Amino acid sequence: MSNHNQTVLITGASTGIGFAVARAFLDRGSNLILNSRNPGRLEAAYEALGRPDNAVLVAGDVSDKAVGQQMADAALEKFDRVDVLVNNAGVFFRQNPSLTLRRLTLTTTTLST
Ligand SMILES: NC(=O)c1ccc[n+]([C@@H]2O[C@H](COP(=O)([O-])OP(=O)(O)OC[C@H]3O[C@@H](n4cnc5c(N)ncnc54)[C@H](OP(=O)(O)O)[C@@H]3O)[C@@H](O)[C@H]2O)c1
Repeated sequence: MSNHNQTVLITGASTGIGFAVARAFLDRGSNLILNSRNPGRLEAAYEALGRPDNAVLVAGDVSDKAVGQQMADAALEKFDRVDVLVNNAGVFFRQNPSLTLRRLTLTTTTLST
């Protein structure tokens, strides 16, 4: 699949799924607007992608409307278009195994009384 010259906005792009998606689009020739809150981690991600000329970094919290506007403005200013939004930023709460065990124990106790 070719996404050549498409401009892709990706929130939460410094790590995990967002970073993997950024690399995949970059490999297909897309222009990128990359966002996450921590500027240092965002810069490290840019470095790991090989400092591509066709990527722009916009650090900030996407719950702030102004940050979304900055991303759109950067896309239009540098690439003259917006094609795709990957609205990925967020926090994934992995289940705590000890909490699960504790819940199971409590459930068993309740059933046997
Ligand atoms: N991993 C899974 O198995 C899984 C399963 C279901 C759903 N998801 C969802 O998929 C998304 C990515 O998951 P992941 O595992 O790749 O997470 P991750 O590795 O923790 O990455 C999250 C990314 O989002 C950024 N971020 C977090 N809050 C932000 C905010 N308010 N504004 C801008 N950037 C923000 C983080 O950077 P900063 O901290 O620097 O901002 C980071 O770049 C999340 O929305 C998660 O809920 C993940």
